[in-house]
Amino acid sequence: MIEERQPIRVALLGCGTVGTEVVRLLHEYPAEYAARTGAPVHVTGVAVRRPHKHPEVPERLLTTDPATLVEGDADVVVELIGGIEPARSLLLRALRAGKSVVTANKALLAEHGSELYAAADENGADIYFEAAVAGAIPLLRPLRESLAGDRINRVMGIVNGTSNYILSAMDATGAGYAETLEEAGRLGYAEADPTADVDGFDAASKAAILASLAFHTRVTASDVHREGISGVGAGEIQAARALDRTVKLLAICERVLDEDGTEAVSARVHPAMIPREHPLAGVSGAFNAVFVEAESAGQLMFYGQGAGGAPTASAVLGDLVAAARNVVVSGKGPRESAHAQLPARSMDHTPTRYHMSLDVADKPGVLSQVAATFNEHDVSISVVRQEGRGEDASLVVVTHTASDAALRSTVEKVAQLPSVHEVVSVMRVEGERS
Ligand code: HSE
Repeated sequence: MIEERQPIRVALLGCGTVGTEVVRLLHEYPAEYAARTGAPVHVTGVAVRRPHKHPEVPERLLTTDPATLVEGDADVVVELIGGIEPARSLLLRALRAGKSVVTANKALLAEHGSELYAAADENGADIYFEAAVAGAIPLLRPLRESLAGDRINRVMGIVNGTSNYILSAMDATGAGYAETLEEAGRLGYAEADPTADVDGFDAASKAAILASLAFHTRVTASDVHREGISGVGAGEIQAARALDRTVKLLAICERVLDEDGTEAVSARVHPAMIPREHPLAGVSGAFNAVFVEAESAGQLMFYGQGAGGAPTASAVLGDLVAAARNVVVSGKGPRESAHAQLPARSMDHTPTRYHMSLDVADKPGVLSQVAATFNEHDVSISVVRQEGRGEDASLVVVTHTASDAALRSTVEKVAQLPSVHEVVSVMRVEGERS
């Protein structure tokens, strides 16, 4: 009888919207969790800062001291505090005591993943973190397990719902960034302090985790080139529209070849124009989607809710069941694999494509001066569109692929040409053949 088996004891650190859902579901469906796990799953403690704010949690479970839970008799510690400390120290203590860990903490994993994975390995414990990237979407387990026999070459996705909501709204209404951000805050789609989301920190942590898993290597947040969406204005959205494209904040992780033929990994987060027919273009509002390209599997797309209490609780509980099953059979889940040890390639050396919109004088020779500047930097032009407006003209240039450094220098030089009045917008282009 499953009910007679020794229960799996679960300590929860942090109990916000996700933790509350986790506790509620464990209490609502105990027989199902017991059947799936092979033993009853009991929450034996919940560490919070203000116990009186948690009437939904039985009072006997609440504590303000997470260290006692970590040092107690829990089999699995679920960490939903977020941030680096005290989460890092608490999880290291749990792992060193042989307790398995489930965490949604992307910033911690992106900075200190290798320390935590080593502690798990050395002590025969598991560390699961499906909720750390793209909320409810089963993405990390497919990368870590289902695709472990394949060779992934590229992962490109929308992994931040807040910035995707803002860009989708700007695309739909034509409004500017500041007013759309304000509206998103009013409607509850953006945090009171939206910095981590709109400046790309959240997506960069997720990109580091994705790149590490996809390419069996170690990538930290500091290896990820990061640009947020605050520089995207109504002009950029309009310029994208004119070319039947839309703007998305993308996390892109690629396996790339260095000049000497050795493999490296490039990870970056920045806004980019993608064609409207690209599968990621249709991902709007607060949704997430990740496109994976693997050698044998081909193209795969993962789509769903990337945030929120219930969706994130789904991922946490899936991990909890996996960790608890391993405790029941005295087994261990898959360990982290970083055997490839790929060096991180800098953004300067990453191949990209640019879209550039210029205000120029409409007189003979201007187009050839602009084209000559591209030529000097060995950047090949793919599309040129010019529209006269009296004495001035609007000039749009889309390049073929070149190193990001060459493209940036080209933009700087073009901006200095006397016939160029203004560089109206510059944005990278993704999702199409170069
Ligand atoms: N703040 C994130 C987002 C969700 O806006 O997608 C948590 O990772």
